[in-house]
Amino acid sequence: MAPGPARFKVAAAEVNGFRSGLLDWYDRHRRTLPWRSKPGVSAEPYHVWLSEIMLQQTVVAAVIPYFTKFVEKWPTVKHLARAPQEEVMKEWAGLGYYARARNLYKCAQTVAGDYRGRFPDTREGLMALPGIGEYTSAAIAAIAFDQPATVIDGNVDRVIARYFAVEEPFPAGKKDVRHYAALLSEGRTDRPGDFAQAMMDLGATICIPKVARCGLCPVAKGCRARKMGIQNGLPAKLARKAKPQKHGYVYWITDTKGRVLLERRDERAMLGGMLALPVSPWVSTTEVKAHTATITELPLPPEEVKGARVMHSFTHFDLTLQGCRLGPVKAADFRAPQYQWVRVGDIPDAGLPSLFVKATKLFSGPQR
Ligand code: ADE
Repeated sequence: MAPGPARFKVAAAEVNGFRSGLLDWYDRHRRTLPWRSKPGVSAEPYHVWLSEIMLQQTVVAAVIPYFTKFVEKWPTVKHLARAPQEEVMKEWAGLGYYARARNLYKCAQTVAGDYRGRFPDTREGLMALPGIGEYTSAAIAAIAFDQPATVIDGNVDRVIARYFAVEEPFPAGKKDVRHYAALLSEGRTDRPGDFAQAMMDLGATICIPKVARCGLCPVAKGCRARKMGIQNGLPAKLARKAKPQKHGYVYWITDTKGRVLLERRDERAMLGGMLALPVSPWVSTTEVKAHTATITELPLPPEEVKGARVMHSFTHFDLTLQGCRLGPVKAADFRAPQYQWVRVGDIPDAGLPSLFVKATKLFSGPQR
């Protein structure tokens, strides 16, 4: 096997200098975020867990209003566990990656039921819970329980790749990032939660993508990439493949009272468990020939609405849906438990995922 890139040796004095420089900076510049405790105060595990689940794949600014709403509505994990699942999915609508919400709810029920509302304080205990993997268990262990876990999110990846000049493109280069991140945090019991959050804040505010703000960085002196003048090119990433394109139909089905048909999506499907407009299967070619729907027997042929298309980008494919109208139909023809008839004016409060908020506008926007 070809030898990997050489790793820098890191002296204990450098690790100490990095940590103290970063923590001093954090004491002066930490971001105020609603899930964070005040300086020197232990964080509330429920808040840390909830925020970390929301922050998986979602930026801080988008998470803040959702986090605030959740803790207002459900002040403890026991409150959340007692809520109906549909209500939790509704409040999650718009945040995306809906498996997170399903696991969040399962996890709340496990913690409330099996742990009397107290989160376990070990990595192993946390990892046994639904929706909590390597990253999230490390983040909760460090931030909520001040344990010396190595926490690596996208911001930390960038800080470490630059500080140690990890030039190997990601994802392969992440192996070296993990190595260096562990050198900085393993076994360090001095403020592990603050250290983890300081790394995130440095990545989010100073060591930012594209043009790093090295003049403001508390650890710029030791930064290998900066010495080499390559900081803005790191971390390098392999070119992404073009995403597959999928196509389908979305249906605006109205009854004789002018209400619109919504459907609770199957738990195993994309956007599973969410309330949505009915759709056809999504297929990988531009030829969507049949109006076969999740609704198997449409009582009338649907009518394609000219120019009514929505596009949405998922992680692994892009989707285009053509809008179709159907109706008025008899509400009694749609009796299955997944269906609900909703007044048009109530749709904004129904908790639809963004794709379906966009689709709704095709049919009920001011221009139509
Ligand atoms: N990203 C992931 N976890 C975070 C946290 N606790 N604070 C800020 N950004 C984060």
